[in-house]
Amino acid sequence: MQGSISDYGRMSDRQQVFNKLAANKEIIQEYTHPYRELMAYYRCAMMEVSTKFQVLNEELSLQYDRNPIETVKTRLKSLESIVEKLQRKHLPLTLEAVEQEINDVAGVRVICSYPSDIITLSEAFLKQDDIQLITRKDYILTPKPNGYRSLHLIISIPIFLHDQKRHMHVEVQFRTISMDWWASLEHKIRYKKDLPLPDALEKELLECANISEELDQRMENLQIIADSMAKNTG
Ligand code: GTP
Ligand code: MG
Repeated sequence: MQGSISDYGRMSDRQQVFNKLAANKEIIQEYTHPYRELMAYYRCAMMEVSTKFQVLNEELSLQYDRNPIETVKTRLKSLESIVEKLQRKHLPLTLEAVEQEINDVAGVRVICSYPSDIITLSEAFLKQDDIQLITRKDYILTPKPNGYRSLHLIISIPIFLHDQKRHMHVEVQFRTISMDWWASLEHKIRYKKDLPLPDALEKELLECANISEELDQRMENLQIIADSMAKNTG
């Protein structure tokens, strides 16, 4: 397709902006450095949290003869999502506001086999003397009206840098495999899209959430039976 003269004008403007940015690499680095530094601190905090769960998994797997943790996933909030959240909360676009007001920049998701593993792991984690609990939302005890289940903790954890110690906030979500399966699909269908779902779909999601809760309980009961059978034969 042939571009009009004004298109060429716009392209050359863009090129000029690009050239200016390229020529001012140091300035860009200077401006973005504090942001990249803060994100590095959050990545360190996620590493610390993730390691703690790997240690607990290692230790408890000896005791249980199985792994209480299926997977540990980490994610850092994108710049786009951070800016969107600051704007939604009418907060200034500053790094101080990010650190003080946005608790889920660093996210760790711990996927467990059974609901009782969530209790064991979250209690063992919170007992550690370098972890400070900021908030706790128990959507397992009290699921959301749509059926969402998960245990959410906002914690503060220290990271040790070469010349300082910093306390970073991390959001830790605990789910069973079946809670995670449901939440991933529901997220794909609905979460934050601000669109009402057809009633039939809402109902189906809630029904699946109830089945998932029942399945968790029944699998947990079977696991207890399996354990006692292993003890009796072992
Ligand atoms: P944000 O949603 O992050 O602004 O936080 P909030 O203050 O609403 O906190 P909440 O603890 O309720 O939710 C935090 C996170 O849990 C979300 O970002 C999602 O990852 C997850 N979550 C909460 N509710 C739902 C839900 O209904 N469905 C799904 N799929 N995920 C949810
Ligand atoms: Mg969030």
